[in-house]
Amino acid sequence: MSQRIRKAVFPVAGLGTRFLPATKTVPKEMLPIIDKPLIQYAVDEAVEAGCDTLIFVTNRYKHAVADYFDKAYELEQKLERAGKTEQLELVRNVLPSHVRAVFVTQAEALGLGHAVLCAKPIIGDEPFAVLLPDDLIWNRGPGALAQMADAAQASGASQIAVQDVPREQTGSYGIVATETFSGREGRISAIVEKPAPEIAPSNLAVVGRYVLSPRIFDLLESTTPGAGGEIQLTDAIAALLVEHPVHAYRFRGTRFDCGTHIGLIEATIRYALDHEKLSDAAQQLMQNALKELGVTELE
Ligand code: UTP
Repeated sequence: MSQRIRKAVFPVAGLGTRFLPATKTVPKEMLPIIDKPLIQYAVDEAVEAGCDTLIFVTNRYKHAVADYFDKAYELEQKLERAGKTEQLELVRNVLPSHVRAVFVTQAEALGLGHAVLCAKPIIGDEPFAVLLPDDLIWNRGPGALAQMADAAQASGASQIAVQDVPREQTGSYGIVATETFSGREGRISAIVEKPAPEIAPSNLAVVGRYVLSPRIFDLLESTTPGAGGEIQLTDAIAALLVEHPVHAYRFRGTRFDCGTHIGLIEATIRYALDHEKLSDAAQQLMQNALKELGVTELE
């Protein structure tokens, strides 16, 4: 797989039940961190990694995602007339002009594996990326996907992002076993979905970034529904690694699990504290809030 990835899949057809009632009308991927929706952070990461074709796997309730990437004629006209050039640029630049967005429908939420399979006709026979936008990855240097695209090109292997998690949390993740591990990258020998801590083969947990060989599509087609009656991407990856090198890649950066309440809060705090205009005010209001609530000891 020495070919550079050009296409990225964003599976955004999940139900987002953990954020109900908000996600009754607002897709989880449209929840904002400061002023950008989660999907925008993932798109920026994919574009930075060199992708120019973005495939959104959506469902009929997620018009907001397609609308967001569509041209907003009326709004642009109004901003232009009002001379609000900065805001106009923000609205126009949600997608750079060389990038095209393709929308594919997943008629039924049959699982992440099934959602990825829906992108097959657009991907064809080339390596591609998958990004789960609710895993938000923050890094001062190159983004996680750019790091993985480089690694895939250098090694020829598929790449799966991993991070260390405390052993007691292995039951919440896909966990990989590796043959050798350089500290950054290693060939995966097994992948287990949500193992109990006492049987987990490691504490390297799968995070929502993948660079995959197109062979995964054939394997997904023959994958039978697994946990929860869903077609699991993990099951197809388990089949892929028997015939093709699949590497675990420990990316540089901090990942926020914005599919959970606390992860979304943590990301908001972190981005606010790192924001050039908001940082001071954010620090101040956090201190005030802690003081008001009687939490006085700050180490
Ligand atoms: P999650 O497991 O986070 O499920 O899916 P969810 O529906 O989004 O959220 P909760 O758990 O109900 O709160 C992981 C990723 O896979 C996508 C989701 O949109 C999310 O990006 N997905 C999941 C699909 O696109 N289709 C599916 O059938 C299932």
